[in-house]
Amino acid sequence: MTDKALRALQRVTPQQLRAFEAAARLLSITRAAHELHVTQPTVSVQLRDLAQAVGMPLFETTGRQIRLTQSGEALQQTAAELLACWQRFESRMAEIHGLVRGRLRIAAVTTAEYFVPELIGPFSAAHPGVEIELAIENRNSVVERLRGGVYDLAVMMLPPDDLPLWRVPFRQNPLVVVAPAGHPLAGKRTRLASLAKQRWLMREPGSGTRMAAEQHFSKVGFAPQVVMSLGSNEAIKHAVAAGLGISVLSALAVQSSLAAGPAPTGNSALAVLDVAGFPLRRSWSVVWRKDLPPSAVARRFVEHVQLQA
Ligand code: PGA
Repeated sequence: MTDKALRALQRVTPQQLRAFEAAARLLSITRAAHELHVTQPTVSVQLRDLAQAVGMPLFETTGRQIRLTQSGEALQQTAAELLACWQRFESRMAEIHGLVRGRLRIAAVTTAEYFVPELIGPFSAAHPGVEIELAIENRNSVVERLRGGVYDLAVMMLPPDDLPLWRVPFRQNPLVVVAPAGHPLAGKRTRLASLAKQRWLMREPGSGTRMAAEQHFSKVGFAPQVVMSLGSNEAIKHAVAAGLGISVLSALAVQSSLAAGPAPTGNSALAVLDVAGFPLRRSWSVVWRKDLPPSAVARRFVEHVQLQA
């Protein structure tokens, strides 16, 4: 690398890195500008200057989509680590000044959406100086966010084995077999093998719920007839209620439909089948990277979660 190229890199500004991090994550300049509360031309100029400093294009355009070049991918990881590191510094400064403030980024799996707001609500009320950013996605996406090192904490059932993580289990997550209300097997003790001819609906690949169900099926040698994959718990619930098949879901996700479903026959929309081996006893944990010291805010949130356990 020439001296001139090195000097150009040293002139990269935090604003440019912030614009780049957002654009690379969202793959959209418009959405990055929106998130950063600046105009789209501002982000475009920052990205152009950054690409000049790096000396390589960071994005390429295919049709109306942008995607990262190889240099862009390399910079994405570095930018994320730098920004996360800076945020930890900000939060450390706030701590030294006796304040719990700053941003708390939590990535939670979709099944957690049924309780995470209850968890965050009291924390947020007690710490008005903390801005919380919550991403709710399936397990694979949450793992990717943990890998990126930008998120402080994740809430999930099956943390990955290939990342060094601290893990604090705090809530049971029983997984149950759900069928439409009025299913012939509802209310009867059933062996899993008797469900081999049923039409099974599964969450999408990448879902932890699906992974837990598949791990159990393969452990007991059961091969379900999977007719459909659906991308959310709610989509599965509606499809099961409509009689399209049966599925495995978190008991928490089906609770509301058991209690408050339509009651033309006195029944709710869904029934939990009494299947041998179920519920699968799993739990949710709050996890964070061992190699990235948690911010004061993140530590405070973990304490809060432990009090709820
Ligand atoms: P998911 O959640 O199915 O939305 O990935 C699984 C989990 O509870 O970890």
